[in-house]
Amino acid sequence: MDKLLIEGGAPLSGSVRVSGAKNAALPLMAAAILADGPLTLTNIPRLGDLRTMGRLLGHMGGRVGLYPEEAGGYREEAVLDMSGLARPEAPHDLVKTMRASALVLGPLLARHGQARVSLPGGCAIGVRPIDLHLRALAAMGAEFDLSGGDIMARAPRGGLAGADIRFETVTVTGTENVMMAAVLAKGRTIIRNAAREPEVSDTARALVAMGAKIGGIDGDELSIEGVDVLRSASHAVMPDRIEAGTLLAAVAMAGGKATIRGARLNDLAVVLGKFTEAGVLLRAQNGDLTVESEPGALSAVNVSTSPYPGFPTDMQAQFLAMMATARGASIITETIFENRFMHVAELRRLGADVTLEGRTAVVKGVGRLSGAPMTASDLRASACLILAALAATGSSEVSRVYHLDRGYDRLDLKLAGLGARISRVKDD
Ligand code: EPZ
Repeated sequence: MDKLLIEGGAPLSGSVRVSGAKNAALPLMAAAILADGPLTLTNIPRLGDLRTMGRLLGHMGGRVGLYPEEAGGYREEAVLDMSGLARPEAPHDLVKTMRASALVLGPLLARHGQARVSLPGGCAIGVRPIDLHLRALAAMGAEFDLSGGDIMARAPRGGLAGADIRFETVTVTGTENVMMAAVLAKGRTIIRNAAREPEVSDTARALVAMGAKIGGIDGDELSIEGVDVLRSASHAVMPDRIEAGTLLAAVAMAGGKATIRGARLNDLAVVLGKFTEAGVLLRAQNGDLTVESEPGALSAVNVSTSPYPGFPTDMQAQFLAMMATARGASIITETIFENRFMHVAELRRLGADVTLEGRTAVVKGVGRLSGAPMTASDLRASACLILAALAATGSSEVSRVYHLDRGYDRLDLKLAGLGARISRVKDD
């Protein structure tokens, strides 16, 4: 395992380019199952969860070309030909490391009429059931049995049928799973209270490029006319709005002036508003975002997470860390997951003053944090601890950075490129 050593107090400068979005690349890789030929994805970030998804598609019998080598490095590309799929299954040893494996369920049912998918367990941030996915797929005719922890799923002999579906809770991968089942179903599917996250729309646009008929993209009601075949296509993965927000928070907390290139700023409108309210200077120019901040000069701002276009839960930990050194008290409410404050205990080790009451954290800004060893618990928490260490005086360590490497494309190198004093060592 690796750990990161961080010397706080260095202001950031220079520029950094945002990688492709993990949470778009995952459903897009699963969508390859639907096509009768190769799906080519470009702007694929290099991170653990995508390697896991590649292993899963390979296990099924697909031909997976991920990060092809080229002179001087590799291409951020995936060429996925699932036409030879022989095993419509997602075994436990792969699913347990990545819950998003459940995204293969809809495509397997649609394309192969059956699937055996290990029921995803919970994770650090919550129980995270997939009952809404299963209920919606059942409305399309799918039947499920549970055997040995695996979901045995099968479609009716004539294939899945379109249905009118309403999600009682907004679910991102639930919307993606059902959308990918519906594109090859018989007839029309309506998905009401659909997730509007940009990653859902990016997946929908790739499906349309493959020949799917999807209306209402970007909205909360999707209308899908089933077709007989989806064909090969090529699609560039959207930029990662959460990585962009994380880099923005890094400059805001460490101080200095730096430019974040290649983000789709519309995807971050609410986030940018909250950073501006806190006193971070932002200037957007042709898709580049220049960030300027004075540590200790930030003001407390309240945030409540909600589904897109609200403040994303995946930015909650990073924003909370920033509030730990802001002037005044802020109230951070996590409405999506029931246990997404594990980073608080670690931040308290740096001197943060945070009181937890259920799904609400009251953060009282302190002048400066002071460095200490910390342990990451989940993906976004690990990013938050790094940001706090950048803002703290003295030295910090963050161990178990495999959490970080699952979802960020070399964030430590990107931060070092902006002048952060951060290095990676083996943690035996
Ligand atoms: C996606 O997870 C993201 N992952 C998460 O990002 C993100 O935090 C989350 O959406 C919310 O935006 C991917 O896209 C791969 P949900 P997902 O279904 O789809 C409950 C990261 O850091 N629910 O929208 O699993 C659920 O428990 C990760 O990159 C049910 O009860 O989240 C949660 O409380 C973390 N039953 C709420 O809905 C279901 O069947 C929203 O979950 C499905 C969800």
